[in-house]
Amino acid sequence: MKLIKDIHSLSQIVSSKKHEHINIGFVPTMGALHEGHISLIKQSLLENDFTIASIFVNPLQFNNPDDLKKYPRALDSDMQMLESAGCNALFAPETSEVYSGDEQPLQFDLGNLANIMEGKFRPGHFAGVITIVHKLFSWVKPDVAYFGEKDFQQLAVIRKMAKALHPNIIVTGCPTLREPNGLAMSSRNVRLNKTVRHNASIIYKAMQHARQLKNVLPVYEVCSKVRSMIEEVAPFKVEYIEIADAVNLQPLQQWSDTQSARIFVAVFANDVRLIDNAAL
Ligand code: PAF
Repeated sequence: MKLIKDIHSLSQIVSSKKHEHINIGFVPTMGALHEGHISLIKQSLLENDFTIASIFVNPLQFNNPDDLKKYPRALDSDMQMLESAGCNALFAPETSEVYSGDEQPLQFDLGNLANIMEGKFRPGHFAGVITIVHKLFSWVKPDVAYFGEKDFQQLAVIRKMAKALHPNIIVTGCPTLREPNGLAMSSRNVRLNKTVRHNASIIYKAMQHARQLKNVLPVYEVCSKVRSMIEEVAPFKVEYIEIADAVNLQPLQQWSDTQSARIFVAVFANDVRLIDNAAL
């Protein structure tokens, strides 16, 4: 696997692949890779001739400086995982390669996606995400880019940005991979101790319970049942629970508001913030 640190070398590789009409699949990440990321790489390898991954912990998308400081970093083991998965190239730039000192977030209207759920609770987060993804898309020029559905709202945000600014790039969402106890795989899971990681199965169990209660109880009652189920287990504290339309992500008032309902949760396990979602 080729390690690329600068934009100039990346552009040279991309130009030569384009020249040879080689399809490029792209998997952007912030590193601390797990099997969920590797499933995206494998999907890209199946569907494209050449797969590029990126690892960049994007400071612009962290609304909390402490979260940025504590975000896990593991470049050596990440490279080994990518290599054994068969990834062709890794772009892993330094921050100074990506951003000028006074970089401003990309101005792009995300509509109501910016004001609900992650948009509401992490102000500026999505502006930071689309800023980096727009840059990466402009440099890597992929035919297809792969993102996990664990960050379902992020996927919707990236689709909206790409439709306007990179209409030729296909944005593909891939299913969430889960640990045997149901906990969604996430780079942040390494910050949970063994007991908390074990008990975090309550998040998945509560979402499954919501599926059983769909059309049985009103939407707001299901949300409140899910909240109490999760908060009965220490140390979990719910930040939000929303049941929303799976397409436009607008919160539902009643079940008949949509054909495809999805539950979204954000939960704190002490200072580690976990998000998850599931079709109902
Ligand atoms: O999902 C992530 O890891 C990040 O938000 C992304 C898409 C790589 C942008 O930094």
